[in-house]
Amino acid sequence: MPSAVLIDCDPGIDDAVALALAARLPELELLRVTTCHGNTDVARATRNAREIARRVGIDAPITAGAAAPLRRPAHPARETHGDEGLGYWIPDQAAHAEPDHAAQAIAEVAAATHRLTVISLGPLTNLARAIAAFDHVVPALGPIFIMGGTIGVRGTQTRWSEFNWWGDPEAVEVVLAAGLDIRLVPLDVTRRIVVPGDAVRALRDAGRADDDARFWGEALGFYMDFHRGYEGLDGCVVNDPLAVALAVDPSLATWRDLRIGVSVSDDDRRGAIVVDAEGGAQARVAMTVRAADVLALLTQHVFAPWLTESLVRRGAQQAAQWLEEHPQ
Ligand code: RIB
Ligand code: CA
Repeated sequence: MPSAVLIDCDPGIDDAVALALAARLPELELLRVTTCHGNTDVARATRNAREIARRVGIDAPITAGAAAPLRRPAHPARETHGDEGLGYWIPDQAAHAEPDHAAQAIAEVAAATHRLTVISLGPLTNLARAIAAFDHVVPALGPIFIMGGTIGVRGTQTRWSEFNWWGDPEAVEVVLAAGLDIRLVPLDVTRRIVVPGDAVRALRDAGRADDDARFWGEALGFYMDFHRGYEGLDGCVVNDPLAVALAVDPSLATWRDLRIGVSVSDDDRRGAIVVDAEGGAQARVAMTVRAADVLALLTQHVFAPWLTESLVRRGAQQAAQWLEEHPQ
């Protein structure tokens, strides 16, 4: 029986890979996609989600969400995901503002489903708003898989904090305080899910004759150029699909139960995970991952027409080597 799932995301290049994986995994029944500020503005994120859904065969409704964090300004990551949010790939459709109904959508889908699994791939603003506005949401939710935070590896936004949690730390506070079944997928494990440069170049080559390959080649090509420029990695870290993979098969990772909080400071600890925090929330945290097996899933369900498993699997070794050469 497939698990009923709602994905909250900020597409975003790695969000696109995660949506493609979710669309193709038979163990998931994707009931709704909600979008949020984050990698790009929420209008572009919603336009991008619709384009991705059309390409990968998602027929779940897509509902626009929060344009900004609970208490801070939005901070799109144009240098990482491009001006339109999908790297070098420029959508035909212009983005336009849509009403923010994501919190209501989360509440409605949760009420209609027993134990709705939520997979959060961006800042947690929508989920936090749903929890604050609708009393019935928390009891109706099952496990919440959250791509966010970092414990033992360098952050993506500051030395200590990862983009999603840095983006809206107050929203993280609300989610952690709600007593949910939190399954945290931090950078410690997502950093190991690297699509190697040779695979991205192969997608770009295939893109000369195949429009979907062109889409992936142009999106991941931008992401690879960013990673090469910022950290000398010949490839790109696709964080978000790991949260989807672990929602289907938690055995791909090892987990530890930790008591965690989040820093809401304005310094370089903004959004940082606080382990053993006073009054912190119980969370199950992914600590290690079978990265090669996750990359094999991505190849099988997303890149198979154009890439071989052996080509993509090399990303696991490449990530391990990069982490060895760059002490965190
Ligand atoms: O830090 C990585 C996370 O931030 C990913 O979800 C990426 O898409 C961005 O949202
Ligand atoms: Ca994301």
